[in-house]
Amino acid sequence: MAASLDGFIARKDGRVDWMETSDEFVAGQTMDSEVVEAFLKTIDCYVMGSRTYETALSFEAKGFGWAYGDKPSFVLTRRELPRTRDTVEFYSGDLAQFVNARLRPKFRSIWFVGGGAVSGECLRRGLADEVRYSILPILIGDGIPFFEKLDRDVALHLAEVRAYKSGTVELRYEVRGKRTAQPNAST
Ligand SMILES: NC(=O)c1ccc[n+]([C@@H]2O[C@H](COP(=O)([O-])OP(=O)(O)OC[C@H]3O[C@@H](n4cnc5c(N)ncnc54)[C@H](OP(=O)(O)O)[C@@H]3O)[C@@H](O)[C@H]2O)c1
Repeated sequence: MAASLDGFIARKDGRVDWMETSDEFVAGQTMDSEVVEAFLKTIDCYVMGSRTYETALSFEAKGFGWAYGDKPSFVLTRRELPRTRDTVEFYSGDLAQFVNARLRPKFRSIWFVGGGAVSGECLRRGLADEVRYSILPILIGDGIPFFEKLDRDVALHLAEVRAYKSGTVELRYEVRGKRTAQPNAST
């Protein structure tokens, strides 16, 4: 996910208006849309919490489109939510069992979209092989943390760093003690 420097992925009320920053880091690289597209192709399925899904639906309603293409998108929820496309499937229950028994045998690269609740649970339950963390050049003081309710240390290995002209720094960590070979799950 992308977060403010103080570690928040959204304001407390879910707003992400602060993501439009206007920084310029002269030595940074330009985000190449072809590279982004090629990377997105490597993702086999998405998993997201219901609040992230609701944000995605509201973006779509405002005309920004559906961010997850035609890839299978699994939404975690205990509620009845609108299902706007065939690629969306709802799940309620134990996350580790869902990922290990249902998703891993079928999908190589499982992308946890977020938000903070799901991301925290994913790390807490030892389900993530990698963490991709983009820091935006802004502090917002309060909000929804990247990892909610993380109750233990998780040792990481810094595998990749990229700084962009926009002032965003993209970090890729491998979760230590996990296999790094495919199949993998990222958050
Ligand atoms: N900055 C970024 O890159 C980024 C990325 C993603 C999201 N976000 C933002 O993050 C915010 C949402 O994050 P969040 O932490 O509030 O919520 P979230 O993680 O998106 O969703 C949490 C909800 O998912 C459901 N859930 C989670 N685990 C479940 C399970 N095992 N079984 C059934 N249901 C389960 C529960 O809702 P129910 O009540 O439906 O059961 C839970 O309250 C949004 O504002 C979104 O825009 C930001």
